[in-house]
Amino acid sequence: MSTLIVRPSGPLEGEIPIGGAKNSVLKLMAATVLAEGTFVLRNVPRIADVAWMGDLLTHMGLTVEVGDHALTITTPADVTPEAPYELVERMRASIVVLGPLLARHGEAHVALPGGDDFGPRPIDMHLKALEELGAEVTFEHGFVHARAAQLTGTRLLLEFPSVGATENALMAAVLAKGTTVIDNAAREAELADLASFLNHMGARIRGAGSSTITVEGVETLHPVDHTVVADRIEAATYLAAVGAAGGEVILRDAVPAHMTMLVQKLGEMGVRCSPDGDGLWAMARHRLRSVDVSTLPYPGLATDYKPLLVAMLTVADGVGIVTENLFAGRWRYVDDLVRMGADIRTESHHAVVRGVPRLSGAPVRAPDIRAGAALAVAGLAAEGETAIADAHHIDRGYEDFVGKLRGVGADVERRD
Ligand code: UD1
Repeated sequence: MSTLIVRPSGPLEGEIPIGGAKNSVLKLMAATVLAEGTFVLRNVPRIADVAWMGDLLTHMGLTVEVGDHALTITTPADVTPEAPYELVERMRASIVVLGPLLARHGEAHVALPGGDDFGPRPIDMHLKALEELGAEVTFEHGFVHARAAQLTGTRLLLEFPSVGATENALMAAVLAKGTTVIDNAAREAELADLASFLNHMGARIRGAGSSTITVEGVETLHPVDHTVVADRIEAATYLAAVGAAGGEVILRDAVPAHMTMLVQKLGEMGVRCSPDGDGLWAMARHRLRSVDVSTLPYPGLATDYKPLLVAMLTVADGVGIVTENLFAGRWRYVDDLVRMGADIRTESHHAVVRGVPRLSGAPVRAPDIRAGAALAVAGLAAEGETAIADAHHIDRGYEDFVGKLRGVGADVERRD
């Protein structure tokens, strides 16, 4: 178990490299099941979730070789169409193997994921979409079993633009017979990356990145070499660090076009951002102003940004009302922020954050990836030492979190 020690820092100055998106690479890895042969993925972050998805692919009979920010994945003619509980429990995103397994192998046996720290996260929309494409879905011994001799294209209307359900439906539809239309589809940048990967493989997808995706099924797909899109949530984390600690940084390889709403919100708070060559420049010189925040599906403000925004609001001037519209219970880090002197009251989907001049470092615990990172952001603006236990959660989504922060002058270290 490792602990992250954060001391008051700033102004932060310099450059931070932004890696490939966790929420894209995991799905691209799942999509390699769709074609026999050898794939290369580049700009792959060195994070725990990628290693776990590699374990899952290996369990299914694929070969995964790890290179320098690259993965070489070889898919054999036959795979074991099964995702066991130990792996799905560790990482809920494993559920996205359901669509590709079903499409290419006609069956998939995937352990049902449990709830997690964000409360229950059902997969009913994933399953409904697959059933509408012609799969027969049953449950037994904690597993979902899906079977279909041949999937057939149809019109799918998602009740909510769920990222995972859109991805599973998309990966199933690429090999289905005929045309599939996915309406009210998720529009995330990572989803567009997945569609572009699938199109390079020979799929025929139009409209990815918009709320209507049209897929004309093809008979076979082939392996490709692909570079993973930049991680907008990693970039948002370092923007929050600059907001909390002050300073001026360049986020190399960040894609501002994928973060428009966040950049606008940060501008209202007093963090100036603008595109800079191959990245994003950001500067904060004064105490931030409070704003209201409401999470929404892309291109709205991502729920993953919320803990970072809350951390910034704790030391901003004024009162901010934060509304969570995606995951009911995503407030677990708030108690720890309060222990650090923040003035936050939560009520169901809302939090009222009254900015205080300074936080006070305290021992806290990272409950998940983004909340762990948010506690570190708060620690930069706190007097004394903030010791974040369970820092391994941060490793699930961030490569070299400590090194990147230290590189711009933050006083952060890891104690194992
Ligand atoms: C993905 C991201 C996660 C992000 C989330 C929302 C990955 C690995 N994770 O998660 O970081 O916070 O998108 O942007 O990419 N829902 C249902 N039934 C379903 C599916 C979803 O009710 O079958 C609900 C969920 O409970 C939640 C909402 O829909 O309230 C959005 O979930 P979804 O977009 O599916 O999130 P994930 O794909 O799990």
